[in-house]
Amino acid sequence: MLIIEKAKKEDARAIHDISRELNISYAKDKDKGVLLRIIPEEYIEQNIDNFIAARLHGSMAGFLWFNTQYPEELLGDTILQGNIDNCIYSEQIAVKREYEGLGLGRKLYEFIKVNNPDKGILVLVNTAPEGNKASFSFHTSIGFKTVGIFHKKYFCGFEDFTSKLLRL
Ligand SMILES: CC(C)(COP(=O)(O)OP(=O)(O)OC[C@H]1O[C@@H](n2cnc3c(N)ncnc32)[C@H](O)[C@@H]1OP(=O)(O)O)[C@@H](O)C(=O)NCCC(=O)NCCS
Repeated sequence: MLIIEKAKKEDARAIHDISRELNISYAKDKDKGVLLRIIPEEYIEQNIDNFIAARLHGSMAGFLWFNTQYPEELLGDTILQGNIDNCIYSEQIAVKREYEGLGLGRKLYEFIKVNNPDKGILVLVNTAPEGNKASFSFHTSIGFKTVGIFHKKYFCGFEDFTSKLLRL
């Protein structure tokens, strides 16, 4: 049985583990999408209200980490092509490889939508130097549209980092 709900402090280790196993340095089958940041367990514990858990048959199958708005420090490097007002920001979404394609990613976003019906959702999907085509296909499949481009000479350990900013 699939349960999507707010994460609990005791989920911090399992969320950290997923963020590590799908990280660009460790993930297998990189064409299925990778994460750029490993989230420290203590950070998750301290910010647990910003995490949503997808549990399948009792075990952690995926998560969504969000914030209340697009980070102000990224705005200066973002060329906007659409409206980003009144939006929650998806920091990271991840589904364990063995559970991909079962609709968990879509349901994690639906949980945000149901609980914030008046809000949009933003996400950055990197296009260079390493593009995340799987993530772009996933997000556009569920209705996200491009509303901007983020570019920075050095970001998250990458040179000439570019991402599309998408909105649902
Ligand atoms: C991207 C990711 C979150 C998708 O999660 P998921 O649970 O497998 O996706 P869903 O099953 O909910 O798929 C929803 C839709 O997206 C499409 N989709 C999902 N992954 C896709 C992929 N790799 N390529 C093309 N389309 C994809 C599905 O076909 C589905 O469309 P449909 O309903 O029209 O059939 C998951 O593969 C993942 O965690 N990847 C690694 C981490 C990552 O890249 N995160 C995003 C960082 S920005």
